[in-house]
Amino acid sequence: MVKVLPASRSSHVDVRVENASRYLKRCYVVERQLMRTVAAKFVDTSQWDFKRQLANDMWQASRHADALRTRILELRYPRRDVDKKPDPALMALVAECAKGTAHAEFIGGVYGVLLPELVRAYQGYLSATDPLDDAPSIYIVRHIVADLEMQIERMRALADEVSPGLFERTAAWQGYLRQCCAAVGGISGLDERAPAPADHPLAGRPTYEIGRSVMRDERWRPVLFHLPHENKYDVEGRKAWQRIEALDKRVAMQVWSAISHFNEIWAAEVVAASMWDFDDQPWDFYLDLARWAWDETRHSTMGYRALQGWGWDVPDLIPWGNALYNALGPMPPIQRLALLYYYEDSLLRAGTKQIEIKILESAQDDGSVQDMDFDWADEAIHVSYGYTWLRHLLGDSNAGKEELTRLTDDAREIIARFVAEHKDDPQAKLAPYFERLHDVIASMLHDIPDDALNVQWAPVAADEEALKA
Ligand SMILES: [Fe+2]
Ligand SMILES: [Fe+2]
Repeated sequence: MVKVLPASRSSHVDVRVENASRYLKRCYVVERQLMRTVAAKFVDTSQWDFKRQLANDMWQASRHADALRTRILELRYPRRDVDKKPDPALMALVAECAKGTAHAEFIGGVYGVLLPELVRAYQGYLSATDPLDDAPSIYIVRHIVADLEMQIERMRALADEVSPGLFERTAAWQGYLRQCCAAVGGISGLDERAPAPADHPLAGRPTYEIGRSVMRDERWRPVLFHLPHENKYDVEGRKAWQRIEALDKRVAMQVWSAISHFNEIWAAEVVAASMWDFDDQPWDFYLDLARWAWDETRHSTMGYRALQGWGWDVPDLIPWGNALYNALGPMPPIQRLALLYYYEDSLLRAGTKQIEIKILESAQDDGSVQDMDFDWADEAIHVSYGYTWLRHLLGDSNAGKEELTRLTDDAREIIARFVAEHKDDPQAKLAPYFERLHDVIASMLHDIPDDALNVQWAPVAADEEALKA
C-alpha cells in the first residue's frame, strides 16, 4: 500500500495534452487543405460575388490554420512535427470536396457539409476540454467557430441572392460528402465510423486539377485586356482612351485607378493558383500567399466599388480582361509568380503609388485616395513575399538570381507573343468601351478650383513597347 491525498477534484474532463494536440491537428489538417482547395476553386469560379467570398474565406482559413498550428506547437513543445504526416483519410476527404464542380457543387459541399462538420468538431473540442488548463486553445477555437458560422451564413445569403436553390440543387453531392465524413469518424475522428461510400453514384470522380485558363463572370462581355496600354496594336483603343485623358488628367487617373484595381483579380488568381500548384512548401509560404491572394481580391473589389460608386453599369461599361491569367497558363507556376513579382516590384520602385495618390488628391476624390493608400501598404508587403519566396524556391545564390531574371524575361516574351497573336481578335479591341465610357464620364464632370497640379505619370504596362507607342 502507498499513501495519497484524495483527488483534488471529484470530477474532471478526461483530456490530456497528447489528445488535445492530436484533435487540434486533425482540424489543422482540414483547415490547411481546405484553404488550398478554396484557393484553387476561387480561380475556377467566375461568378464575381462567389469569387470574392471564396477569397475572403480562404484567407480566414489560413488564419485558422496558423492559430491552430501555433497552438499545436505549444502543446508539444519542442516537438516540431505538426506539418508531418497529415492524416491521409482527412486529406482524402478534402480531396473529395474538391471534386465538386465549380461553383455550385463545390460551394454546396463546403458550406453545406464540410464547414458545418468543422464547426461540430470544434464544438466537440470546446465541450470536452478544460477551460482552465486548456484556455489558450479555447480562445482560438471559439474565434474560429464564430468565423465559420459567419462564413456559412454569408454564403447561404449570397446563394439565395445570386443562385437561388444552390443548396437544394446540390443535395445529392452533399449527401455523398456527409457519408465521406462519417467514414472517417467525423473531423474529430472520434465518431463511430460508417462504411466508406465507395459504391455511391457520385464516388470515384477523377482527382481535381486546377484550370489553366479563367473565364470572367457571364454578366461581362468576354474581353482580353482592360486598358489599351496592355496592347500596343490597339491604336483605336488608345485614341478612345486619349479622349478621356483630354478631359483632365485627374479624371483619367480616377478612371484608370478604378479599372486597374478591378482588373487586379488576375494577380489574385496567379497567387491562389500557386497555393495549389506548390504542394510541399513551408507553412509560411501558404500563409503569405493566402494574404497576397486575398489582398489582390480586395484591390479588385476596391475598383469595383469605385466604379459602382459612380453609378455605372459596370458589366456594360468596364472591360474585365482574362488575358493576363490566360496568357500565363502554359508557364510553370514559378514563372507566373516571378512575373507578378516583377510587375509589383517595378510599380513600387517607380514610386508610382505616390504619384497616383497625388493626382487623386488633386481630384479631391477621397475614396479613391484611401483605396490607393491601403493598396500601396499591401503592395509593399507583396513585394517582400515575392522576394522571400522566389529566393526560397530558386535558391539564394547568383544562379538563383540569374534564373529569376531568365524566368521573368521569358515570361514577358510569352506575354508579348500572346498580345501579338491576338492583335486582330475583336476581344482585343477596347475602343467601343472607352468611347461609351467617355460620353458617360463627360456628362458627369464638375468644376473645382485649379491647384496647378504638375505631375508626370505613366502607367506600368505589361508591354513596354505599348507605353512607348
Ligand atoms: Fe494589388
Ligand atoms: Fe500586389
